[in-house]
Amino acid sequence: LRVVVLAGGLSHERDVSLRSGRRVAEALRSVGVDVAVHDVDAQLLRYLDEHRPDVVWPLLHGAGGEDGSLRDVLELAGVPYVGTGPRASRLAWDKPIAKERLQTAGLATPEWLTLPQELFRDLGAQGVLSIVAERFGLPVVVKPTRGGSALGVTRVTSKDGLARAMVDCFAYGDSALIERAVDGVEIAVSVIDGMDGPVALPAVEIIVDGPYDFDARYNPGRVEYFAPARLSPDQAAHVAGVAVAAHQALDLRHLSRTDLILQTDGTAQVLEVNVAPGMTETSLLPQAAVAAGHDLGTLYRQVVEHAAL
Ligand code: DAL
Ligand code: MG
Repeated sequence: LRVVVLAGGLSHERDVSLRSGRRVAEALRSVGVDVAVHDVDAQLLRYLDEHRPDVVWPLLHGAGGEDGSLRDVLELAGVPYVGTGPRASRLAWDKPIAKERLQTAGLATPEWLTLPQELFRDLGAQGVLSIVAERFGLPVVVKPTRGGSALGVTRVTSKDGLARAMVDCFAYGDSALIERAVDGVEIAVSVIDGMDGPVALPAVEIIVDGPYDFDARYNPGRVEYFAPARLSPDQAAHVAGVAVAAHQALDLRHLSRTDLILQTDGTAQVLEVNVAPGMTETSLLPQAAVAAGHDLGTLYRQVVEHAAL
């Protein structure tokens, strides 16, 4: 089985992707799979034509990698690949669209409003604050409608913080998602969708002193992870069911990760679903797989074998 892992790309998450790619390649090689890692560039089609892999694993995060465009190219090249197809990727990558689809499937997601940058220019922070106050009030979380790794994400607890949060957000795109902040335990549930259909891995609980931001995610030590999460059997079954339902509602394929907040009343509020979850040494899916007793190489080999069928 010849596998090409695609990593890098030109998004803000380029470095994360290179780390994900390296880790997945190492794990696959440890079980004897022939793997090449390719940093994506304009020569991609020619590269694939020359190397003729049995399966490609696109591990690009962020724009390009998760918005469906790279998957369009893989469809064009006619090569089997790991993960969700182009159309479903595009819809899942756009947070407001994904949230609507999750709601339609009966899943809870925090209330939100979407704000284009021009409207922010017209209304100013005061104008936006009045809309927020009318809709759900502070605190809110401001994030780019399309983005990853918490880049451009700010939790706003006071009126003064909103303008700065909006400006940070617009550094990553021209549209902002303003979400009602919900309190509870931050949980990530990864799903592996193999021969037997989608199966949730153990939930991972994220305990962080301060925001779970880019720095906290990728520098070991700032976050305490509990894998599996400290949940009752009922809670664990509930969040597993939510992640599988989200995976299905968004037509995801092979693997995904659903990030959610488990509120004290037991409701799981889905924050988002990732079509290309991080696979670095501090990332959540690999931690969940290890907690389930999987050898990463063996699990990833099953994933590529399934994708190659
Ligand atoms: N966007 C990063 C890679 C993640 O979701 O893990
Ligand atoms: Mg994400």
